Amino acid sequence: MIINGANLNLLGTREVEIYGTASLKQVENLCRKKAESMQWSIDFRQSNAEGSLIDMVQEAQNKCNALIINPAAYAHTSIALRDALLNCSISKIEVHISNTNKREKFRHNSITAAAVDGVIIGCGINGYILALEAIALMQKNS
Ligand code: DQA
Repeated sequence: MIINGANLNLLGTREVEIYGTASLKQVENLCRKKAESMQWSIDFRQSNAEGSLIDMVQEAQNKCNALIINPAAYAHTSIALRDALLNCSISKIEVHISNTNKREKFRHNSITAAAVDGVIIGCGINGYILALEAIALMQKNS
């Protein structure tokens, strides 16, 4: 499952100098293409609501082999999402499109990052593809 948090539905028009011009649909298509080449199926989701993201993480635990999550701003604020991730035992990668370390101080800390296996930051939308590859390698080597 690939989960996208708040405001990522606006990708392509939102702060394009930071996030680029690709829409979330284009990101989804990119992920689908990559997943197909790996013979994986993906469930690609987005919500602006913290509780819905938590429900998705709980669902992924029961249904999926791995989870990629861009929590968006909830990475910096949500103890509840972190708790949900801690309770989710499948392979988990957090992705941020922008390099949050180069941005405002409040973006430097991710509360959720300690609850996942790895984090990919600042590689643009390719971060999602790198996350798929990282999961494949992690699962191959475990
Ligand atoms: C983001 C970075 C967050 O700080 C921000 O709130 C987002 C997007 C990223 O992908 O770069 O909404 O997660």
